[in-house]
Amino acid sequence: MFAVRDETVTIEKLIDYLKSVEEQSILFWAIVTREEGKHIGNIKIDPIDMESKFGEYGIMLGDKTEWGKGYAKEASERIVQYCFSDEVDLRKVNLGVVEDNHDAVELYKKLGFEIEGVYRLHVLSLIHI
Ligand SMILES: CC(C)(COP(=O)(O)OP(=O)(O)OC[C@H]1O[C@@H](n2cnc3c(N)ncnc32)[C@H](O)[C@@H]1OP(=O)(O)O)[C@@H](O)C(=O)NCCC(=O)NCCS
Repeated sequence: MFAVRDETVTIEKLIDYLKSVEEQSILFWAIVTREEGKHIGNIKIDPIDMESKFGEYGIMLGDKTEWGKGYAKEASERIVQYCFSDEVDLRKVNLGVVEDNHDAVELYKKLGFEIEGVYRLHVLSLIHI
């Protein structure tokens, strides 16, 4: 499994990111299990283009023991639905994924995302998760 490493994370960048969550220029949630209240991952819509009304969805379950239990699908369905609600009012939700990331590709297919294009030689630096 791979994720794209596109920049170094510094404390300053993290603080800026949290400010943008507070200002709601992006949307960011924790995914927490109902039973134990355990934080198993995060889901976000970031960036959001409010002029053209679209946003980029991303998801990560950091705890691998929780994979394959339907949590990502359930959380994603709710968030995508919320994005199209009157409250957020987006016209489109998009995402990017490395094609080797089969679990994510399968999840996105199940959620109804469609391929609009394929970038060639786009990702140079990958990290193992
Ligand atoms: C991708 C990720 C979020 C999936 O989370 P998950 O909770 O395991 O996914 P779910 O259990 O909700 O499964 C979603 C659907 O995809 C299917 N699926 C997942 N992996 C699959 C695979 N390898 N082959 C076939 N189907 C697969 C599941 O069967 C399920 O469909 P169903 O409900 O019809 O059975 C998780 O693996 C993860 O966090 N990976 C690391 C971070 C990452 O790669 N994020 C995406 C970056 S683009």
